[in-house]
Amino acid sequence: MEGHVQELLNRITLISAAVATICLFYVFSASSSSCRQLDSRHHEALAMTVARSPFPRSSCEAASRRPLPPEKRWKKLQSTREWRRRVDAFGALFRSVRGLGLLGNASRVLCVSAGAGHEVAALRESGVADVTGIDIVDVPPLVRRSDPHNLPFFDGVFDLGFSAGLDGALFPARFVAELERTVRKGGAIVLAFRRCSSEAEVDEVRGLFKRSALIHLSNATLVGSESTIITMRNGAAHV
Ligand SMILES: *[C@@H]1O[C@H](CO)[C@@H](O)[C@H](O)[C@H]1NC(C)=O
Ligand SMILES: *[C@@H]1O[C@H](CO)[C@@H](O)[C@H](O)[C@H]1NC(C)=O
Repeated sequence: MEGHVQELLNRITLISAAVATICLFYVFSASSSSCRQLDSRHHEALAMTVARSPFPRSSCEAASRRPLPPEKRWKKLQSTREWRRRVDAFGALFRSVRGLGLLGNASRVLCVSAGAGHEVAALRESGVADVTGIDIVDVPPLVRRSDPHNLPFFDGVFDLGFSAGLDGALFPARFVAELERTVRKGGAIVLAFRRCSSEAEVDEVRGLFKRSALIHLSNATLVGSESTIITMRNGAAHV
């Protein structure tokens, strides 16, 4: 009887060791592959969220260390000057969108490629309650994971679609098509991207839109980078 119990215990120990090894392997392979896919914006966000570790050689190395609990990480991120600076920059941009009559407190807004969610925070602070932030990595609590090229939303459910992530989009035409699909007819799409140096470049971005018509074009400095902001009315163009 005792022999049986001992044997059983031995087996359980063996099995748990195997499970633990498999889990570790998974964690390692997951963190290295996701790190590879990240663009600089995500690296920055991740680097900020794991900034506690002293002198990490790369954000990948830092990310594989034990992270802070989510609420603490979030509090820490929010308290940085960089966070405030970015949120304020987006706040100014959205004030001009309000000025055009395209955004109100009751608007349902989608932010695509939102990184750590500075634009989501800016919108919420300004009184817009219904804001959804998505990106290829989950950065709680403001941004959840979805593919910008294949948005998990029904057609026409948003009043406004915003993104500062066109420059990093793998398939810009698909990226814009998904915004045009998920924003309602008559709603607006606002994209901020690296400042165009020629009319042809602006036309190229305009050409990505298949159903929308231009409302407004402006230049702005968005957190230190010279940007062009294009504002389109969705569904206003003849197909
Ligand atoms: C929107 O909400 C903010 C914050 O609650 C409020 O200060 C502002 O007056 C509201 N704006 C409008 C137009 O209702
Ligand atoms: C934005 O800046 C570019 C390059 O500096 C310039 O060619 C263009 O006319 C500007 N566009 C607007 C709308 O001010």
